[in-house]
Amino acid sequence: MASTQFEVDPEDLALLQKLTGITDEKELEDHVTEVQNKANRHVHVYKVRMRYSRSMESKRALVDSISSFLPTTNTFYRLPKLAKDAIFLDVGCCVANALRKVVSDGWPAEHTIGIDLYKEFWNVGHELFKSTSDSFPAGFIGGDLFDNSILDPTNTDSPLDLESGHISAIYASNVFHLFDMEKQWDLARRLVSLLKRTPGSIIFGRHGVIPSEKGLSHGKSGSYHTAESFTKMWTELFELNTVEISCEVRNKSGKRFNSPLGEWDMVFFSIIFIGDTGDA
Ligand SMILES: C[S@@+](CC[C@H](N)C(=O)[O-])C[C@H]1O[C@@H](n2cnc3c(N)ncnc32)[C@H](O)[C@@H]1O
Repeated sequence: MASTQFEVDPEDLALLQKLTGITDEKELEDHVTEVQNKANRHVHVYKVRMRYSRSMESKRALVDSISSFLPTTNTFYRLPKLAKDAIFLDVGCCVANALRKVVSDGWPAEHTIGIDLYKEFWNVGHELFKSTSDSFPAGFIGGDLFDNSILDPTNTDSPLDLESGHISAIYASNVFHLFDMEKQWDLARRLVSLLKRTPGSIIFGRHGVIPSEKGLSHGKSGSYHTAESFTKMWTELFELNTVEISCEVRNKSGKRFNSPLGEWDMVFFSIIFIGDTGDA
């Protein structure tokens, strides 16, 4: 077989093949490249979106292996079996690659929801994975995570069940670092309110943080978390002893990545609700 430049790990490749029905690697790569180029042209129209389009530049990032984000002991994939109404929410879902992965691994599509500022990404996702709203009936909200009409923790009449305490699993991949610390706190508060208080419920994902030894950065564009301050934020947002928090620096190939603010570390984090351990 001819060698291919298609840099995608075997698990992701298998998922892409399964979902698109394209088994030939070269044909699959052409398909991904075509959709990707179209998306980048589309995104290009809106300059502001280019800032958020990085994930579209890397074929490697098109599908995520969710399992690699989860603590080994987590009951993530048991959540929809334990509660039929368990919902998986992906904030900043882009083309909904993560939603595809969890649905492929057994989470019912109709109990998954994606939110993204740009609804165009959702349509790109359908094109990429060759799906329709009938074949992939996940919910989608096109809008701003900071818009109270979308993610208002106190709202009891929110679209698509986004009510307080309704969501079993919340995934935030490469999203927190888009915002300064004040907005990260705001986003975290919104996510905490959404989380269902059932043992095993989880908020997890990855993003960039300021390396610890550099301390919190206070620049023109605001301040950003280190792994330690990010962890501390979650301990402050939950009742004492109700969650297990993990926040681990995992730099790809041992290297830091460059951001407009200098070198950053990549953290993989999870906050798992373990229940009320108060003295009753
Ligand atoms: C860097 S991409 C990450 C995409 C995907 N989660 C991943 O890891 O591949 C950030 C995503 O967040 C979305 N986004 C940025 N700001 C947002 C906001 N205020 N509300 C909703 N989505 C937002 C962008 O449109 C983009 O799709």
